Amino acid sequence: MAQGSRRMVSGLGRIACAIAALLLCAVAMGHAAAATKAAAATKAATTTKAAATTKAAATTNAAAATKAPNDKDCLSCHNLKANAKLQARPVSVYVNAETFQPSVHSTLGCVSCHSDIHAFPHPDPVKPVSCAGCHPNQTSAYAGSVHAIAKRGTKQRFPACLDCHGNPHGMRAKTDPKSRVYPLNLPRTCGTCHGNAEIAKKYGFPDVYALYMDSIHGFALTSDGLLVAATCASCHGAHDILSRKDPKSRTFPGNVPATCGTCHAGVQVAYLAGAHGKAMIAGRANAPVCTNCHTSHQITQVGVVNWQLKTVATCGNCHKARLQSYRDTFHGQVTELGFVATARCWSCHGSHEVLKASDPKSKVAPANLPATCGKCHQGVTASFVSYEPHPNPHDRRQNPALYYAALFMNLLLLGVFFFFGLHTALWLARSLTVGKRGKDNGVSGEQ
Ligand code: HEC
Ligand code: HEC
Ligand code: HEC
Ligand code: HEC
Ligand code: HEC
Ligand code: HEC
Ligand code: HEC
Ligand code: HEC
Ligand code: HEC
Ligand code: HEC
Ligand code: HEC
Repeated sequence: MAQGSRRMVSGLGRIACAIAALLLCAVAMGHAAAATKAAAATKAATTTKAAATTKAAATTNAAAATKAPNDKDCLSCHNLKANAKLQARPVSVYVNAETFQPSVHSTLGCVSCHSDIHAFPHPDPVKPVSCAGCHPNQTSAYAGSVHAIAKRGTKQRFPACLDCHGNPHGMRAKTDPKSRVYPLNLPRTCGTCHGNAEIAKKYGFPDVYALYMDSIHGFALTSDGLLVAATCASCHGAHDILSRKDPKSRTFPGNVPATCGTCHAGVQVAYLAGAHGKAMIAGRANAPVCTNCHTSHQITQVGVVNWQLKTVATCGNCHKARLQSYRDTFHGQVTELGFVATARCWSCHGSHEVLKASDPKSKVAPANLPATCGKCHQGVTASFVSYEPHPNPHDRRQNPALYYAALFMNLLLLGVFFFFGLHTALWLARSLTVGKRGKDNGVSGEQ
């Protein structure tokens, strides 16, 4: 039954196709006649005539010489929904005129892209369309990207232009909300692969789409509809995407501050003026950039307590002794308990313009401490700020008082141990001698 009806549809399709072809022939013949008449005196006409050995050839050539096939011609076949022959192909050759009409390429005409079609019936297969001729900049940027080399072993590029831009007959300008590369739609477009666990595993890249969607940038984009929030292309670029290991990449550590700085310009300035920025510029491998503290795809608002607790540990990864000593203070203990209201590393040092204590501009320079501590403590006095935020009892130069206090306590402890140790030993010795003497006298403990 189903087979039969499909055959019937297919038959109908063929009839439809044939009718369309006949119609086209008629149109073409009409054009040919007119053209032959009008151009009789010209060279072109001579060529046409000379070629007119058979009726069929004459028709086709005349049509070509007169008028390039227009979009209506093409769509008369390709916009036919009922055309089973078109739909039966592995890739449907159905072209939706309603989608094509408002697309960015509709003014060009079918044959500006399918440039090897000069007449009907047209060649099959037709030559693949090249975007390069009209979009040389995007094509050459793409050619050097991590995507163009994805399947270097084969001839297939992955992803190619259409994997990101979609239907070749429905492309919109990037500012059009219906475009697949419109900022609000772009994460989903990249996410077709970078949110696909299978593809991620096959190519060995992290599955970042879900992380991004959960980040402050993803939220800003999807729930607030904020076009100025960072999307994939703001940080990676669109056509010239490179691996983070490539020094030319926007995501190469040394380039990250500039990449984030395209939007967070003020933060970038402060960061570059601080010890971390200077260490980064000097090429120190252990200098932190934005993503060391904020991550790349899981960026949260800085008020989030979990991020703050994690970031104290992040600072501590590189400043181990300072984290250790911070933990010994009241501030550190409160942080350990997970409370919000206490001083964390950046409450005293600042978050981006972090400077050495010896720098007069540093928030922890002695002259600035009253202001720094005064943000949270009222009536700050000179003696209050002499409180040691990084008590280190092992460093005599840094904390002489603490050092000697600790030394005294240790000596005292040792003395106490020694005295009581000696005391216990002597006691034991005495009780043993007394016990032995008792036994010798025939006295037992029970008596
Ligand atoms: C007379 C009907 C007809 C007209 C007019 C027509 N086509 Fe086609 N076209 C077809 C058919 C049928 C196929 C499928 C061929 C097959 O399956 O062998 C096709 C296939 C194609 C293909 C896919 C070929 C491939 O290699 O995969 C392209 C591209 C195409 N046509 C473009 C055009 C363009 C552009 C025009 C106008 C300049 C046009 N066609 C006009 C009938 C037509
Ligand atoms: C911007 C250039 C461009 C324009 C304009 C264009 N096409 Fe295409 N067309 C393509 C590309 C790209 C493909 C995908 C196959 C390839 O790479 O050659 C394609 C494929 C096709 C196919 C094969 C089916 C498919 O989807 O793969 C048909 C049929 C077709 N085009 C018909 C048309 C018709 C009819 C028009 C005019 C209404 C038209 N095209 C206008 C670029 C274009
Ligand atoms: C990995 C996805 C991706 C691939 C592959 C891709 N593009 Fe794009 N394309 C984009 C994004 C994203 C934008 C929007 C850029 C923006 O908003 O600034 C864009 C924008 C464009 C534009 C608009 C002008 C511009 O540069 O902003 C053109 C034209 C274009 N692409 C052509 C191409 C061509 C041709 C190819 C194949 C050589 C291609 N694209 C491959 C993602 C891609
Ligand atoms: C015959 C020339 C031609 C070919 C071939 C061509 N395009 Fe275009 N394309 C244009 C023109 C013209 C525009 C409109 C430019 C404008 O509005 O500034 C355009 C616009 C675009 C845009 C939207 C640009 C924007 O402002 O956001 C994209 C995306 C695009 N083309 C991608 C492609 C892709 C992908 C291919 C290959 C499948 C392709 N084009 C093939 C001429 C062409
Ligand atoms: C059709 C699938 C596909 C789409 C869509 C796609 N990519 Fe990719 N992407 C890949 C593949 C496959 C690789 C792996 C290339 C390799 O390892 O050689 C890759 C690699 C990358 C890499 C480098 C990964 C690494 O480990 O070096 C980045 C960054 C990247 N893509 C970002 C993007 C962005 C941003 C978009 C959207 C504008 C996007 N991709 C769209 C398939 C895709
Ligand atoms: C705020 C900037 C930013 C945004 C937005 C962003 N990324 Fe990234 N991405 C980075 C940075 C920086 C790296 C470098 C590795 C790291 O630090 O984790 C990276 C790494 C990657 C990687 C691994 C590539 C490599 O070189 O190892 C892929 C794949 C990737 N991003 C895809 C995406 C996709 C897809 C989106 C959108 C859904 C996106 N990124 C959004 C900044 C961003
Ligand atoms: C050493 C860790 C570290 C580095 C490196 C770093 N940040 Fe921050 N950032 C922080 C901390 C901590 C805060 C929270 C400040 C607060 O709560 O007052 C913060 C806050 C922010 C904020 C919120 C606004 C503000 O100033 O409070 C933004 C935006 C930001 N950082 C972006 C960046 C960018 C962009 C870079 C790179 C140029 C960067 N950060 C480098 C630790 C860092
Ligand atoms: C395209 C512009 C753009 C880029 C590039 C960008 N951001 Fe953002 N970022 C924003 C916007 C807009 C917001 C504010 C979202 C909101 O408040 O809803 C934001 C928010 C943030 C916040 C939260 C600030 C807060 O007040 O809590 C941090 C942290 C942040 N970005 C860090 C980064 C880092 C790190 C990079 C680089 C890896 C980066 N951003 C790249 C636009 C950008
Ligand atoms: C990835 C490692 C790394 C992380 C994470 C890091 N730093 Fe640093 N920090 C450095 C380096 C490298 C210097 C420069 C040291 C120098 O110039 O000798 C530095 C310098 C400093 C200085 C100036 C003192 C000095 O020795 O130059 C302070 C204060 C400081 N960091 C505090 C912080 C705070 C607070 C955080 C967390 C918000 C943090 N650091 C996170 C590596 C790191
Ligand atoms: C209550 C304020 C406060 C907090 C909280 C704090 N610090 Fe400090 N930090 C200081 C002061 C004041 C100095 C200078 C005196 C000193 O060296 O002990 C200093 C010195 C430093 C130095 C050495 C600076 C130099 O010029 O050599 C580093 C590195 C440092 N702190 C890192 C951290 C880290 C990492 C944390 C969090 C784990 C942290 N600090 C928490 C106040 C603070
Ligand atoms: C971000 C706010 C903040 C900053 C900045 C800050 N503190 Fe604190 N500090 C606290 C909080 C909160 C407590 C807990 C007080 C409580 O429980 O009432 C505390 C407790 C203390 C305590 C122990 C409790 C007490 O009140 O005796 C001392 C001492 C102290 N801070 C000294 C300092 C010094 C010195 C500085 C500057 C180097 C400083 N703090 C910077 C918030 C801060």
